[in-house]
Amino acid sequence: MASRPWVLIAGLGKAAGLGAASAQLFAKSGYNIALLSRGRHALEGFAQDLRTQSGVEVASFATRSYKPQDLKDAMDNIWPSLKSDAEGGIRAAIWNTGFAIFKPFLSTTPEEVNQSLMLNTEAAFMFSRECLLQFQNNSVDLETGKKGTLIFTGATAATRGSAFTSVFSATKSANRALSQSLAKEFGKEGIHVAHALIDGRIQRDDAEEFGLKPESIAKAYLNLVKQERSAWTWELDLRPANERW
Ligand SMILES: *[C@@H]1O[C@H](CO)[C@@H](O)[C@H](O)[C@H]1NC(C)=O
Ligand SMILES: *[C@@H]1O[C@H](CO)[C@@H](O)[C@H](O)[C@H]1NC(C)=O
Repeated sequence: MASRPWVLIAGLGKAAGLGAASAQLFAKSGYNIALLSRGRHALEGFAQDLRTQSGVEVASFATRSYKPQDLKDAMDNIWPSLKSDAEGGIRAAIWNTGFAIFKPFLSTTPEEVNQSLMLNTEAAFMFSRECLLQFQNNSVDLETGKKGTLIFTGATAATRGSAFTSVFSATKSANRALSQSLAKEFGKEGIHVAHALIDGRIQRDDAEEFGLKPESIAKAYLNLVKQERSAWTWELDLRPANERW
């Protein structure tokens, strides 16, 4: 039997949002799941449930923080653990963590600037680097012509600043620019880099009328991973039908 491919999802939060929805959908679609997150408790509980529910392999890796060295240390643990299923290899990675900050500029503290730079920008560089090095060693997938797909969860603020988004816009736009550069630099090698602009609030529970459902975004992510190299998306713009702004 062919080995299952792995997807790595970074950023699970309380295991109720987009990271969790993506893990569930990719598991249902035949991927093994590697999860990287802070908050060991939520991470391990979710991994255990998903393993039981889905029957795929689910590996969880807690990181103390997303500071470059902590992140690198956590990622160094990931790759050897996936080797049990090495033929499948790591085929997709989703960067789904960030620091959302909406505040007047003059009330923003240097620590918040530092947190934003670290999570929205610096950590995304380290994550990209480690994933790209893995993808480079993959064989080309016959269906898609790709060696791997790297997806960033972005925000509208990455394309334009507004009042109250000075730090958020500045740091998310750096991540967006990084993704565009990587898409161009690594595309030729068959590595697909995509940036998803989430143009609205992500729903926290099903009953909410407005906002994007995490499951719906996850479907769009799965589509990105399945895209073929002759026609793939760098930037995807997802907006709920009833958005009011
Ligand atoms: C944030 O502050 C820490 C020390 O508290 C420092 O090590 C790190 O380099 C800073 N990061 C950025 C992106 O400024
Ligand atoms: C990629 O493969 C080469 C050759 O086998 C190996 O030396 C290198 O360490 C591999 N890179 C990674 C990131 O595993």
